[in-house]
Amino acid sequence: MKILGIETSCDETAVAVVEAEGDLASPSFKLLGSSVHSQIEMHKEFGGVVPNIAKREHLKNLPIVLEKALGEAGVEMEKIDKIAVTVGPGLEPALWTGITFAEELGEKYKIPLLPTNHMEGHIASALLGHPSQIHFPALALLISGGHTELVLLQSWRGKKVIGETQDDAAGEAFDKVARMLGLPYPGGPEISALAGKAQDPGFVIRDLRLPRPMIHSNDYNFSFSGLKTAVLYYVRDHASPDKTLSPQITIAIAREFQDAVSQVLTTKSKKAILEFQPKTFIIGGGVIANTKIRSEFEKLMQEFPETRLLIPEKPLTTDNAVMIAMAGYLAELSGEKIELKAKGNLKIG
Ligand code: KG4
Ligand code: ZN
Repeated sequence: MKILGIETSCDETAVAVVEAEGDLASPSFKLLGSSVHSQIEMHKEFGGVVPNIAKREHLKNLPIVLEKALGEAGVEMEKIDKIAVTVGPGLEPALWTGITFAEELGEKYKIPLLPTNHMEGHIASALLGHPSQIHFPALALLISGGHTELVLLQSWRGKKVIGETQDDAAGEAFDKVARMLGLPYPGGPEISALAGKAQDPGFVIRDLRLPRPMIHSNDYNFSFSGLKTAVLYYVRDHASPDKTLSPQITIAIAREFQDAVSQVLTTKSKKAILEFQPKTFIIGGGVIANTKIRSEFEKLMQEFPETRLLIPEKPLTTDNAVMIAMAGYLAELSGEKIELKAKGNLKIG
């Protein structure tokens, strides 16, 4: 069946058309058309996402993005079987724009709606193009701008969050640290690019050692706010009188911060893999676009040849509507019922 996905939970307006087939044991997805309009330029000057600007921009861009996705797919609305729309978690004013848009389309073309959980979308994002990929039990690490959580899946329906951040999300920490270093929003790609310059031994600063919060705690929870504060103090103590940092220090901080996040994520994941012995390990969310973190996970998984690592293609790591169409299909197959109502703090399971 052809599923139209609609995503407006944060600062990306996205629509996609996906051909979905198969049952829960071997779902299969083909991307027909996808369009993402990023509002990053709009929010940059505020250093983060402003909900009312996001809402205004979604309203303006949804019809345009819809037309692009349908055009790329070569599919008309009349041929769409279901509309999957993100209902949470996210910014409620932004979520409502997508829901209302989906309702109007559903009514006009008599198409049923599939209210969809954005985080289930990040799990589903790794499934594009390959049939019967998730073997259960599976473990998913979701690392985005709003969330950091480890989810255990006994089946697509049987999901349980086994650990989550107690404060900032991993992506949020990247964004906040970037701001301290004078880098634009979103910070992840900026820090990643800077850290990549730190191969030269000249960038190693001996007294720069940031904490790895909760790395050995006896649970699967995370915490990134102490790491962020440690960067704040380091910046304060090492800035010149005009409050600027030397390029050498900036690059060294970017690298040490990225290493700290990467070590916490891989150490916690390893602990969970040892305990739950998943057959599939999925990593989703914007932070896994990070080349260094990706390669650290690929290295880690060499220790677990029985567990298959699934990471989405790079364009599907950050917010998109392809993942929403796929998650909507899986939720429907598994009989999961989600209310058609914006829910900022919608949980998994
Ligand atoms: O999944 P996503 O697009 O949106 C949410 O659902 O939150 O994730 C966005 C987050 C931002 O915090 C951004 O800084 C981070 O993903 N991010 C990265 C990279 N690219 C995006 N973090 C680290 N390295 C990257 N290359
Ligand atoms: Zn997301």
